[in-house]
Amino acid sequence: MIFEIGNDFARLQEELLKGPIYPDVTPSEIRNYLASRYDFAKSMDLNAVVADVEQMLSTWQVQVTHPRYFGLFNPSVTLASVIADMLVAMYNPQLAAWRTSPAANEIERHTLGWLTAKFGLPAETLATFTSGGSEANLSAVIVALTRAFPRYGEHGLQSLSATPAIYLTEEAHHSFSKIAHMTGLGRNALRTIATKPDLTMDLADLERRVAEDRREGVAPLMVVGTAGTTAAGAIDPLPEIGRFCRDEGLWFHVDAAWGGAAIVSPALRHHLKGIESADSITCDAHKWFSVSMGSGMFFCRHPESVAQAFRADAAYMPGRAMGEAFDPYTSSVQWSRRFIGLKLFLTLAENGEAGQAEMIEHQTRMADVMRKALADSGWRIVNNTPLPLICFTRDGLDLGGFLASLRENQIAWMSEARIKGAPVVRACVTSYKTTENDVRWVVGEMNRLIGCEDAAQLAPAEC
Ligand SMILES: Cc1ncc(COP(=O)(O)O)c(C=O)c1O
Repeated sequence: MIFEIGNDFARLQEELLKGPIYPDVTPSEIRNYLASRYDFAKSMDLNAVVADVEQMLSTWQVQVTHPRYFGLFNPSVTLASVIADMLVAMYNPQLAAWRTSPAANEIERHTLGWLTAKFGLPAETLATFTSGGSEANLSAVIVALTRAFPRYGEHGLQSLSATPAIYLTEEAHHSFSKIAHMTGLGRNALRTIATKPDLTMDLADLERRVAEDRREGVAPLMVVGTAGTTAAGAIDPLPEIGRFCRDEGLWFHVDAAWGGAAIVSPALRHHLKGIESADSITCDAHKWFSVSMGSGMFFCRHPESVAQAFRADAAYMPGRAMGEAFDPYTSSVQWSRRFIGLKLFLTLAENGEAGQAEMIEHQTRMADVMRKALADSGWRIVNNTPLPLICFTRDGLDLGGFLASLRENQIAWMSEARIKGAPVVRACVTSYKTTENDVRWVVGEMNRLIGCEDAAQLAPAEC
């Protein structure tokens, strides 16, 4: 099986390089195509349908696994994760209860235990796989509320004597707005803390806002430190936020959805210093661990609060797990659960720790090459991060037009980000397959697009 999937995987890698990165298609084109072929009135040959779907996927999507996709944390996936997805679909293990899927549950537990230790969290930490970072962030808010307000679980937010507030920067992930909405806290419960010029949280402003809220009878609940912000890869000052939270009795959540993978790299892990003091951590395997979607993780050092938040008792479920085992449906948001963790387990097992670190460090090296090539040809780098994410611009750039030509000419996929309100180009090295040649060729083509073919040889002012 591995051999056959491996062949298909290799074929896809080759074909990807020939085809477009960016699709040229309208919604009605796809809808008309589907309507003309698939009315489900009679049975069809599965081989033909699969071939047709593959054709649609290969032409009608942004190819996020292309080495010149410099996009939104969607990785090139490992073969191990593709095999894992296939195995999981075939055996269809149900992970809600330990007794139904002992092997799968223990494989997840083993994998999460390894990462728990890497993050420096205590052994009793309760960790679960989630659909992604948003669910992990949601879990954090629910558990923090449960721990801080014993009446919350039974009587709801209306039973609280003060309104809880969550502190984060404008660079934090926007899932928190939805979470504030969904949990009933309300979007106004979020306090946007100022950032310093490097886009990291301004601690003085955090202290001021928490003190102000306390004076006004608000109940400060949680501070979110982001380790690798979505737009610019900034890492908030985790040790200082951790200390502040301890002193103030606040929940410290670290959203390391993307940057958390740096914990396996001896060269990069020091950038995550302070993460070990978190009450909870979000880390997505489907970002920088290069496994297929969706595979998030939630780690929490307060297992009793997690159990309190997600408790459930249903007579129709299999009997309670015995001894140290636990039933995921009583310790997480989900009920029926896919065997999410196999992708990370297989990937780590195949790569080994050093191989996984090398994949990550390769991407940071490619980002260094891109940073230098851009700076050498007159582009201005406007973010500052050790992670492989570059935000850049140059005077007089027509950003919309530039990004559109980049895509239409199939040079690369990059996006727009706002840095302190100003639009810039955002390029993240999200593929472990990106080579130095890819990077140099892309920068050369970008220079050609703006009419500066020889920009590397020109002084910035000349171009
Ligand atoms: C920092 C951060 N947190 C959370 C998320 C949400 O993760 P997901 O898309 O897996 O739900 C993202 C997504 O990019 C992110 O960048």
